[in-house]
Amino acid sequence: MTILVTGGAGFIGSNFVLDWLRQSDEPVVNLDVLTYAGNLENLASLDGDARHIFVKGDICDRALIDSLLATQKPRAIVHFAAESHVDRSISGPGAFMKTNVDGTFTLLEAARAYWGALEAEAKAAFRFHHVSTDEVYGSLKADDPPFAETNPYEPNSPYSASKAASDHLVRAWHHTYGLPVVTTNCSNNYGPYHFPEKLIPLMIVNALAGKPLPVYGDGQQIRDWLYVTDHCSGIRAVLAGGKLGETYNIGGWNEQANIDIVRIVCALLDELRPDPAGPYARLITYVKDRPGHDRRYAIDARKIERDLGWRPAETFETGIRKTVQWYLDNPEWVARVQSGAYKDWVSKQYSAA
Ligand code: NAD
Ligand code: TYD
Repeated sequence: MTILVTGGAGFIGSNFVLDWLRQSDEPVVNLDVLTYAGNLENLASLDGDARHIFVKGDICDRALIDSLLATQKPRAIVHFAAESHVDRSISGPGAFMKTNVDGTFTLLEAARAYWGALEAEAKAAFRFHHVSTDEVYGSLKADDPPFAETNPYEPNSPYSASKAASDHLVRAWHHTYGLPVVTTNCSNNYGPYHFPEKLIPLMIVNALAGKPLPVYGDGQQIRDWLYVTDHCSGIRAVLAGGKLGETYNIGGWNEQANIDIVRIVCALLDELRPDPAGPYARLITYVKDRPGHDRRYAIDARKIERDLGWRPAETFETGIRKTVQWYLDNPEWVARVQSGAYKDWVSKQYSAA
């Protein structure tokens, strides 16, 4: 048996592939077009491992997906591939519509054709797992209850609107065509291999370089933070036992204001890599707010716990310490991401891909 993962060279996708192959010998076919966010160095430890088959390609390429499905015959598709950065979606929404909406549509159509032609047993076992975000639910007020699966969709950014659109397509392909889908909506992830354009890795790498730590607006926006391997275990739980057509929220029971996150990162760096110039918090700089900035996200993750027995294994204290330590231990990864040299990995390691 085999699974097809899309976007498996990105932050969460690469953690998922590594985590999957730590737990199982079931091969992973990894389809990723390698945008700026795709980094095959994340998967360097799988070099030469026959269980990982990397294919460089676009989820908008129907012919490629058809041929991959026909040759690899996966029992499931786990769909991570997306444009994922809210700020980029504000300055250039087009790529988000193309990959997140058109790409998901193309993948669903290819999956429908493939699944429709399977033998009864394989057909019943097949799964399309759509990986989505809590941002589709919009923004909460300070005293609102956290997002449940029943919350209405109120996306506010081009990114969250494109993810909401993809969630709706997945839902419709189940309702209309019977495609066996499950969807997970997860909160903000953090951990190893996180591209340093997102809050936590940006603060770590800027602090270590003595650069300003840009906090948008008043820094009081709240996010729920989940360690990335906990997201991976949540996805595995839903893929294995989730009810067809259902959605599951995944979260860390860990709401924090951005400014508090930045202060925690600074305090850990003060402990683990003290700067002779003084505490890292001196670098905190309030900057212009993000347009349309959502004030608060929070996840009610009781359904996945009740139905599938999933809970996060890490607390924020353990997860953030591991994360800061990972960045301290991997300066070459950071340097190659910042210089752009990580792109060379493709031609060096995967010239046949
Ligand atoms: P990422 O930006 O780090 O990685 C995305 C990956 O998808 C990259 O490897 C990129 O090359 C690939 N990709 C982009 N367009 C593609 C295309 N057209 N065809 C094939 N591959 C393509 O993103 P991430 O943070 O790992 O997020 C993965 C998924 O999880 C996304 O669907 C995102 O919406 C969702 N999600 C992310 C978070 C988070 O906190 N990062 C939280 C909840 C849900
Ligand atoms: P981000 O990591 O971009 O994730 P998302 O926008 O998907 O939640 O941002 C997390 C929070 O941190 C968000 O409220 C925006 C804020 N932020 C900053 O204050 N400064 C920064 O430099 C970045 C990248 C984000």
